[in-house]
Amino acid sequence: MCDNVKLAADGMSVRILDQTRLPNDEVYLDLTTAEACYDAIARLAVRGAPAIGIFAAAAFAMLAKRAPMGTGEEFRTHMQQMADYLNASRPTAVNLSWALRRMMGVLDAHAGEGRPAIEAALVTEARAVQDEDVRTCKRMAELGLSLIEDGWGLITHCNAGPLATSAYGTALGPMLLGHERGMSFHVYADETRPLLQGARLTSYELDRAGVDVTLICDNMASIVMKQGWVQACFVGCDRVAANGDAANKIGTSGLAIIARHYGVPFYVMCPSSTLDLACATGDDIPIELRDPNEIKTMFYERPMAPAGVTCYNPAFDVTDHELITAIVTERGILRPPFTESIGALFA
Ligand code: MRU
Repeated sequence: MCDNVKLAADGMSVRILDQTRLPNDEVYLDLTTAEACYDAIARLAVRGAPAIGIFAAAAFAMLAKRAPMGTGEEFRTHMQQMADYLNASRPTAVNLSWALRRMMGVLDAHAGEGRPAIEAALVTEARAVQDEDVRTCKRMAELGLSLIEDGWGLITHCNAGPLATSAYGTALGPMLLGHERGMSFHVYADETRPLLQGARLTSYELDRAGVDVTLICDNMASIVMKQGWVQACFVGCDRVAANGDAANKIGTSGLAIIARHYGVPFYVMCPSSTLDLACATGDDIPIELRDPNEIKTMFYERPMAPAGVTCYNPAFDVTDHELITAIVTERGILRPPFTESIGALFA
């Protein structure tokens, strides 16, 4: 299991591996306040849809233990405020609101009990969210592995590995599990502008695991597919609408369009908690807009654009369901028409 998120044994703090410092420094932070937890999500110290959900659950349990004494009603109001506050840290990954709703549900289910019993139930639930993620990712990795063959070239975008979950990851799961079983793949990792999750995190995770990985700039995906070096695309996902439209890191939809052109299958991998029936189509998925300096100055010694130039910096885009070959969840491989296959999961 990856140690990217860990609720302390006494539940009084949450330790995270600061992903903004990778690959150069492995720095752990012990978080004890709502503001620090909000900040960790907002600045991507903890990131990746499932990991954000796992972290939010742990943070909620920690904040419950640190909540002021008061009546049951005051405690509930305080925790709802904490949940709303954390939920506002990033808008696109539905796993954040999913985890916070789940924690509020546990709080309500134990409402008639004393504070120690409620706090204990919340700590247990936060650990359950993380343990489930490990099993979910393993199952998805098995299913994803059934779609590929030994020796294939694969391409991925952003980071959907253990750092973005708890173990195996989503999109990187088939590669890591296959590698453990002696299979070999050649993985092309898009660097993923502007925050370089592919360069900093995916190539780091695959390289450390011993998987054959080649880092490319995002605008090189087309040439590697044209050469015939890629037999399948695997990406993670932050939210899937009821019709199968899938929001993932900016640049994912461009990769899917290129894959369609070259006849390469395009697989989206996500836990079923990432499916959001409240969104009918991708147009309903909120897309996070981020600081222009991520494009202009971050990672550069000197600014790489005029200081006053207007920038547009959406963190995610939506891949049209028509470009997706299958959506792999722990509950099965969903095929088009997605409205039916996704609907059947929740029937
Ligand atoms: O902005 P990030 O780094 O949180 O974006 C992450 C992604 O887009 C991942 O592909 C997605 O969350 C799936 S992680 C298993």
